Formats: sequence, structure tokens, C-alpha cells
Amino acid sequence: MHAILSESLSKTYRSGITGKQPIIALANFSVEVAPGQIFSLLGPNGAGKTTFVKILLSLTHPTSGRASILGRQLPDVKVRERIGYLPENHRYPGYLTGEQLLRSFGQLGGIHRSALRSRINPLMELVGVAQWRSMKVRKYSKGMMQRLGLAQALINDPELLFLDEPTDGVDPVGRKEIRDILLNLKAQGKTIFLNSHLLSEVELISDRVAILDKGTLLKIGTVDELTSVGPEYLIGIGADLTEGFLHEASALLLKLSYTSDSISAQLSSTEELNKLIDLLRKYGIEITSIVKKRSTLEDSFINLLKKEVVS
Ligand SMILES: Nc1ncnc2c1ncn2[C@@H]1O[C@H](COP(=O)(O)OP(=O)(O)OP(=O)(O)O)[C@@H](O)[C@H]1O
Ligand SMILES: [Mg+2]
Repeated sequence: MHAILSESLSKTYRSGITGKQPIIALANFSVEVAPGQIFSLLGPNGAGKTTFVKILLSLTHPTSGRASILGRQLPDVKVRERIGYLPENHRYPGYLTGEQLLRSFGQLGGIHRSALRSRINPLMELVGVAQWRSMKVRKYSKGMMQRLGLAQALINDPELLFLDEPTDGVDPVGRKEIRDILLNLKAQGKTIFLNSHLLSEVELISDRVAILDKGTLLKIGTVDELTSVGPEYLIGIGADLTEGFLHEASALLLKLSYTSDSISAQLSSTEELNKLIDLLRKYGIEITSIVKKRSTLEDSFINLLKKEVVS
């Protein structure tokens, strides 16, 4: 059974304003998420990420296509008991304390009072807001609010967690803490679906990633699959490159750019790397360092989007 299965899902919003074009928020979007994985949906503003999550939560309905979560064909309201959701830009009633907020969400979700009593404190500890449990939510900072939102999403001990931009407004230490919490939840067997712009963060924890732009799936795969094309090497050199070296390097079709103390080389194999090293030695150019730069998911994401703009 898939945790999430989407088959050719499309969503068109009627703009509502006469004469305006309808907005295609999702176009034939198909994706599978296996149970127990951390899956991330990446894309620029307006790509359709939130629309997709809202369809999976039956908060809005697709124009065409089918989807199911936890084996239940959508729309299905009952399945919400088994999922948690942290919406983007959530607003909580400011007059409640953090603790009261979690209690009311738990009660709304039908969790028994006694179960809630034993659940709220450990959850507040887990997300790092226990010291502010009696403070009114209106006084919470943005990062504190995100942590509370995460606790809210976990209040029913869900099997599947949807988090829309969970680290928005959280400081770097807090972001690392949230990543650790998510890895911990994964270790407990939960499935986590993340929407994010923070590409560099997502690549640290995601099993699989999909890149969405203008409602269309551009690429999907593991982080390694999306970043492994053409590694770049940065080679420190102790002397200027000579004419002879450059001539031979170009004859070997090596793709180089260089300064007086370094070479940047886009190489397709270690064989090419060794050819380059042999050539540097042949011309007596001292090598001071070699670093393999891994293309980050952010690089490949931006490259993909650039290609979209050109085509
Ligand atoms: N209720 C709505 N009515 C009309 N258009 C909508 C509605 N909700 C979303 N849209 C449009 O659908 C497209 C996708 O929006 P969506 O919120 O899914 O994007 P997103 O990827 O979550 O963006 P962001 O990163 O900014 O949160 C956008 O063009 C948006 O303006
Ligand atoms: Mg969104």
C-alpha cells in the first residue's frame, strides 16, 4: 500500500474575475510515496504545492485525476484521523496559551481528555516550547509558533504527516532541531510529506524529492539521482597555467575555467580527473588541493527552472 498515490491529478481554479484566464494549479501530477519515507515537494511560489496537499486532505477537490492516502480513495474525511497537518501561514487564536491550544485541537480531533493530558507535555518538550506552555499564543515568536504548529500536527499521533513549509521563520538551530524531530518520527515508522522552498534543508533528510513548477512535475527521484550529474572539481594550483598545458587540455576536451591559483573542472569521470592531474604534473604545475564539489539539490533545482524559462 502507498502512503500517498496521485494519478494524473489536475486542478484548475476559475479565476472568479470576468475575462481572466483560469489558473492551472496542477497539471497531470502523478506521484507515489512509500510508507515510512520522508518525501519533499519543491517548487517556486505558486507552483501548486499547497494545492496538492489541500487535495490530499480533501480540503479542495481535483478537477480531474485520482488520489488516495493510506489506501483510502479521496475524498475521504474519515482518514483525517490518521494524518497530521501543519498548514502554511497558520493563524491560531491569540487568547489561548500554547497548552490550551493543543488541548482544544486534540478535543476537536476527538481525543479523550485523559489521553490528551499525558500527550501534551511530552509533545511540547519534543518541539521545544515547554517553557512557554502558559504563555498566550499571541506573544509567541514566528519560530515558536512553527514549533507549536508541529506539536498541533502531531497531537493525534498520526501515521502520515503533511508539513507545509515547517521551518518557515525558524532560526538555524531550530531548523536543525526540527530536522532531527522529523528523522526521529521517520524512525518511528511515520511517513512525512514536506512542502518547502528551503531546498538545502530538504536534501539533508528526504528519501525522495519531486520538483514542481507551474503545476507540472519537472523531476522526481532520490537526492543522489537529482544531484549526481557532472561533478565539479576545484583544484588548487601553485603556478600559472602554461600555454602548452591549456592547448593539451583543450585537445583532451577537458571543460575548465581557471584563475591564477585554482582550476574549476566539470568532469564526467575519475578517468578524466586523472588525465587532468597527469597533465598538471607533465607541465610541472604544483597541485595544492583537490576538492570534489557535489552539486547541491539547490543547484539542480535552479538549473531545471532556468531550462524551463528558456524552453
Ligand atoms: N483558492 C484559489 N483560487 C484561485 N487560485 C488559487 C487558489 N489557491 C491557489 N491558487 C493559485 O494556484 C496556483 C498554485 O498555488 P499554490 O498555493 O498551490 O502554490 P504553492 O506552490 O503552494 O506556492 P507557495 O510556495 O507560494 O506557497 C497559484 O497560481 C495560485 O494563485
Ligand atoms: Mg504553498
